[in-house]
Amino acid sequence: MIILERLTKSFNGIKVLNNLNIKFGEQKITVVIGRSGGGKSVMLKHIIGLMRPDSGRVLINGIDINTLKRKELNEIRKKFGMVFQDGALFDSINIFENIAFPVRQHTKLRESEVKDRVYSMLGDVGLSGQELKMPAEISGGMRKRVGVARALILNPEIVLFDEPTTGLDPITSDAISNLIIAMHNKFKFTGILISHDIAGAYKMGNIIAMLYNGFIIETGCPEDIKASNNPVVNQFVAGSMNGPIDFNMV
Ligand SMILES: Nc1ncnc2c1ncn2[C@@H]1O[C@H](COP(=O)(O)OP(=O)(O)O)[C@@H](O)[C@H]1O
Ligand SMILES: [Mg+2]
Repeated sequence: MIILERLTKSFNGIKVLNNLNIKFGEQKITVVIGRSGGGKSVMLKHIIGLMRPDSGRVLINGIDINTLKRKELNEIRKKFGMVFQDGALFDSINIFENIAFPVRQHTKLRESEVKDRVYSMLGDVGLSGQELKMPAEISGGMRKRVGVARALILNPEIVLFDEPTTGLDPITSDAISNLIIAMHNKFKFTGILISHDIAGAYKMGNIIAMLYNGFIIETGCPEDIKASNNPVVNQFVAGSMNGPIDFNMV
């Protein structure tokens, strides 16, 4: 359903993506792991058409999104939900309104229907009773929950998660991983999740893909990744200083 084909993108003469190929399985969660600054967010931005490749294609249901007119691209974007790294909540409106925002923007539902949807989602993400609080009044983990709720409220086919557990303590991080798994079981979206949290990746990922030197060097189920004989993959998942990855580069 989503295919990245020979995707290449440079900034200031440096190839961040270099002939990257990957297929994301429908209704699966694919976790893309890789080093900080390795191009993971750049890859995600290509998938929603926020960045254009220097060469290569982004195919969504067989359509190269970079051949589309703005209006057609906006139609495709309605298939997507996105959970941003920093939550990207609107600070000046409460939790209810943050979650209701896409519903108000993209549908003509009556107020009672908006309420029903938002209250149901608040229950799904474990935020019942928190709806009148402002983003600044809730914890980092709860803000992530709001971000997940807002991304899912229109029941998108595809959900992109940019480092959903980064910056959280290990217990909160595990709770958010569990939430993502529960939401995936309920809503059955195609999930693309970026992370350098290996424990979370193994837990959430049906498929794990490793981005390194601008392309995907390995994909497989968690068991395959654990049993990989690629020394780069081994070093990365072990978090070791010893191996072919040059940590002096960053
Ligand atoms: N809009 C941009 N302009 C210039 N360089 C960028 C831009 N976006 C990302 N980069 C560079 O691309 C590299 C990969 O960034 P990113 O995809 O954000 O990494 P990460 O894997 O941590 O998400 C970084 O070196 C970053 O500085
Ligand atoms: Mg990033």
